[in-house]
Amino acid sequence: MFGGNLVLGTGSGFGKVILFGEHFVVYGIPSIVSAISDYTLAEVTTEPRMQDKYFRIIDERPETPGYKTKKEEQQKRSIRLMLKMVDLNLEYNSLVIKFGGPLLAASGVGASAASCVAFARALNEEFKLGMDDTAINNMAYEGEKGYHGDQPSGVDNTAATYGGLIEFTKGTPSKFEHIKTPQPVEIVMGNTGKVANTTEVVDEVRKQKDKEPKRYEEIFQNAQNIIPRARKAFESADYKSLGRLMLENQELLKQIGVSNPDLDLLIKVALDHGALGAKLTGTGRGGYMLALTPGKTLQENVANAIKAKGFEVVKTTIGI
Ligand code: PMV
Repeated sequence: MFGGNLVLGTGSGFGKVILFGEHFVVYGIPSIVSAISDYTLAEVTTEPRMQDKYFRIIDERPETPGYKTKKEEQQKRSIRLMLKMVDLNLEYNSLVIKFGGPLLAASGVGASAASCVAFARALNEEFKLGMDDTAINNMAYEGEKGYHGDQPSGVDNTAATYGGLIEFTKGTPSKFEHIKTPQPVEIVMGNTGKVANTTEVVDEVRKQKDKEPKRYEEIFQNAQNIIPRARKAFESADYKSLGRLMLENQELLKQIGVSNPDLDLLIKVALDHGALGAKLTGTGRGGYMLALTPGKTLQENVANAIKAKGFEVVKTTIGI
């Protein structure tokens, strides 16, 4: 059971889907991200210290097979980084940290950020730390370093903290703005079932960018040009343009080498069944594909076609 009768702090964080600009966002190019309705829950309580263990994790999130084992060390590193930011006076006690909630622990849905935000909120409640959303977001950003390497863009934790549809730009300080849309629009996310290592993929992109600065400069410029057009398309519910821009974005992601055959197949299936656009979302090399499918019927058709190929799907809406 999630819950119980112990005194404990609880918190939640949204899952997210990056609609435009993953990878490019790491270098200060704007991105567009949306929270999704699935979320992660965390509970924090204490128990008498056993040996040298400062915390114990009970992870009850549903998962893509292998995700939790693959990410176990990163998860511990992430929690240590967040705990470093506060003075909890845990001389005789250890933390018991429990994760649950409906969000699948998988690459591409912001599972790490959702769990960092949920943990920060639970810690805040359990120890009455008086943190506001800005402080929660900052702590979750530190936690994301455990999964993304030293310089995550911060896009995931921002969406996980604040929710909604957001334009996010990394910087000092990073900036974000909520985007208003006339109505929500349906999307389908198809899970390749493969776990991606964000730190490794982000490092590879950086190395390749250093090797071929001219070629990458052009790709990055094209990525930057997509964002204002995508924002306008969202604001005017122009889904045809939005779909085309998703395909343009996917082409650039292919050029920097982060797509893979599973993602390409899922994109093809979605487009063959009428999706207006499709692309990978998040790190790539696995994780999720995202398809734009306005209307319940189209959403259902695309979702069924992907399921028929043996992949799991998430059906949700983005925008308000
Ligand atoms: O795979 P995800 O959902 O954690 O997204 C990673 C997004 C990147 O742009 C590749 C990295 C980052 O720090 O923004």
